[in-house]
Amino acid sequence: MDNLENQAKLYGEQMKAIVVTDEAEGTAGMKLLERPKPDVAMLSSLSGANYGDVIVQVHASGFTGDELKWPSTWIDRLGRDRTPSIPGHEVAGVVTALGYGTTGLSVGDRVFGLTDWTRDGSLAEYVVVEARNLAPLPSEVDFTVGAAVAMSGLTAWQGLFEHGHLRSGQRVLVHGAAGAVGSMAAQLARQAGAYVIGTGRAAHRQTALDFGVQEFVDLENDSLEDIGSVDLVFDVFGGDIGSRSTGLVREGGRLVTVAGPPEVRPVNGLAIDFIVVSDRAQLIEIAQRVRDGRLRTNIGKVASLDEAVAAFNPTERIKGKTIIRIRP
Ligand SMILES: NC(=O)c1ccc[n+]([C@@H]2O[C@H](COP(=O)([O-])OP(=O)(O)OC[C@H]3O[C@@H](n4cnc5c(N)ncnc54)[C@H](OP(=O)(O)O)[C@@H]3O)[C@@H](O)[C@H]2O)c1
Repeated sequence: MDNLENQAKLYGEQMKAIVVTDEAEGTAGMKLLERPKPDVAMLSSLSGANYGDVIVQVHASGFTGDELKWPSTWIDRLGRDRTPSIPGHEVAGVVTALGYGTTGLSVGDRVFGLTDWTRDGSLAEYVVVEARNLAPLPSEVDFTVGAAVAMSGLTAWQGLFEHGHLRSGQRVLVHGAAGAVGSMAAQLARQAGAYVIGTGRAAHRQTALDFGVQEFVDLENDSLEDIGSVDLVFDVFGGDIGSRSTGLVREGGRLVTVAGPPEVRPVNGLAIDFIVVSDRAQLIEIAQRVRDGRLRTNIGKVASLDEAVAAFNPTERIKGKTIIRIRP
């Protein structure tokens, strides 16, 4: 038995979780192990510093490929090593316990949202989350869909409307429009009355059109510069594509990016890079649009927790997002 498993046995009840300990190993270093299960006693202990937290029994979990490169996967808010870490920051499940200072949720509620970056995540049977980072998940929306839409939906919403100030009639360029964030951004931008130009690989054309883009630029064969000027660029790539996109931003326009600080900025416009935050009101709006069919997700594979390590280390390319269904 490995040290981590020994450590876990010292505590009370156990749960299954995916654990990482070594950044250099990436997803190949993921292991399915037993970890201490969060319980009510832990939530109510003052030393636990769990003000505002709830425990969620996880039904579905989403993991973003880049997570294992984020510093918050490896260190806590004080910069201390927090390994072994449980990754996965998108969650859908059922609330099983409330800590001090939680509002708007109760035991038994179906919920979805983002777990805290600097704490253990949702690739586990249970997770502790700040209640404010969760919203009710309507009974008509499956847990798998809830987990898939949390990060991509919030990122798209915040990029377009909070940071991008998108308005009806504007032209928006959405990079990676067949991907998780891009497909959400394409759908939301169309619903807001914008003219949406999407980009991606040649093979993504039909998927992007199905998500509502009115024009598609195949970055492998078409010229980005032929698009003409746009009011908003929603960038998920950074690098050369991000830099070249700044030249398309019209005067007073914006380039919004989730790919880190831009190397080049628009001459007469703004460049804004941001990290998504959970927001209950936005999650409620996103869930409503999923429920009434206005938003579709692009789930490519659903696997169990036992299959998760293999699912995140695929031998062949998976189209769409992988969601781990923790409970059937
Ligand atoms: N800052 C934040 O708060 C935040 C939040 C969410 C996501 N992100 C980041 O945003 C990025 C996108 O996330 P995502 O979940 O949308 O990823 P995703 O689902 O993989 O979507 C990216 C899309 O772009 C395509 N693509 C990648 N490189 C390309 C290239 N050179 N030319 C044309 N198409 C290309 C991908 O195709 P293939 O699958 O064929 O490569 C995929 O369709 C990630 O880096 C993620 O970490 C940041």
